[in-house]
Amino acid sequence: MVTAVAYRLASQRKQIDEILASFQLSMENLIEVKNKMREELEYGLKKETHPIATVKMLPTYVCGTPDGTEKGKFLALDLGGTNFRVLLVKIRSGRRKSVRMYNKIFAIPLEIMQGTGEELFDHIVQCIADFLEYMGIKGARLPLGFTFSFPCKQGTLVGWTKGFKATDCEGEDVVDMLREAIKRRNEFDLDIVAVVNDTVGTMMTCGYEDPNCEIGLIAGTGSNVCYMEEMKNIEILEQIEGKMCINTEWGGFGDNGCIDSIRTKYDKEVDEGSLNPGKQRYEKMTSGMYLGEIVRQILIDLTKHGLLFRGQISEPLRTRGIFETKFLSQIESDRLALLQVRRILQQLVLDSTCDDSIIVKEVCGAVSKRAAQLCGAGLAAIVEKKRENRGLEHLKITVGVDGTLYKLHPHFSRILRETVKELAPHCDVTFMLSEDGSGKGAALITAVAKRLHNIDKY
Ligand code: GLC
Repeated sequence: MVTAVAYRLASQRKQIDEILASFQLSMENLIEVKNKMREELEYGLKKETHPIATVKMLPTYVCGTPDGTEKGKFLALDLGGTNFRVLLVKIRSGRRKSVRMYNKIFAIPLEIMQGTGEELFDHIVQCIADFLEYMGIKGARLPLGFTFSFPCKQGTLVGWTKGFKATDCEGEDVVDMLREAIKRRNEFDLDIVAVVNDTVGTMMTCGYEDPNCEIGLIAGTGSNVCYMEEMKNIEILEQIEGKMCINTEWGGFGDNGCIDSIRTKYDKEVDEGSLNPGKQRYEKMTSGMYLGEIVRQILIDLTKHGLLFRGQISEPLRTRGIFETKFLSQIESDRLALLQVRRILQQLVLDSTCDDSIIVKEVCGAVSKRAAQLCGAGLAAIVEKKRENRGLEHLKITVGVDGTLYKLHPHFSRILRETVKELAPHCDVTFMLSEDGSGKGAALITAVAKRLHNIDKY
């Protein structure tokens, strides 16, 4: 009898370990990811392969970091992260250089995120109207920078990512859509100066403090990187001199199947159940919007095999999106006793035993560790490319970072940094947390654009 129970437990443990092992990446796996990423970066930059590249390498027309002389009052919008926000940003230059911000968070209901484009932009303008009213600045026609955290090519939305799917927007000019919504409302006017990706805003914000910052990383709801590239390597542009910031849109890495060997059946399930099946495969393995979903798929599988929750798949476990990143972060916190893990699971109406909570914690750990390592392997490819661009044996560089996963998860940032160190040993990488890159960055870019005022769109 005792041996029968022991045997059953050992075999259950073996099954769990097998599932967790499919998330473990060897050093060779990671080096391969780094090399593949490097190849895809090059494809995106080359003229012939650019149109079909899965890592899109979009030119942003941002050619320098701020120099501290920027000043003025700006409005900024931030769409595409955890929250939608409207901000008023005041920048002072000179010796008392400073940035002050006031912001308001607005909810974007799911039916608007996935309704029509007109509804979405009308809603955005409604939020701006509320904010202007609230701040008492309705009459002021302030320059506006729009942090629009989706892939854009010369101001045109290439395709929605993350949780958005509003109709009639893809292929359209983002500034035009906003302008038309403002016109429809016919209540106030705005001077829309720049559309900025959040990675670029983050790089610019950190670049404001540290001129060595030439990379912007977001590890949050989505995952993406931008960096300063030599003009001569950007084949689709004619210029040779200088540098330009490239929005890599690396979330699409793997969409041609090049990392299929490390994708698990759970990754495939998450992809198939998403709004954009087949797309953003790397993002779906590395970012906050999807990690909880991967965890949920594994838990369902474990439960089906009788290894968890007494074999009962409860209604909440069937619900897409219940495992938000914040739960993952809480469950994985080292300071949390198992009893507290059980409480969190209870909040999700998952009735767990003590053993269950251990397993859930292990699952979360395996999924987030892999995410951080993959992200680190990608970043290693970028810093190595920058080092080779400059023909240096050793590169010292700063990466501006933002995003809930990086900032709030107890282990993600450490594992990411360790992975970069291991995979890019000739680069000395400093990670600089951006303080609200999306808001501040949009305002800084707007300020630079105003100064150069021949450029009106990024
Ligand atoms: C998604 C978007 C990208 C953005 C990233 C982080 O990958 O496509 O533009 O930078 O999320 O928010």
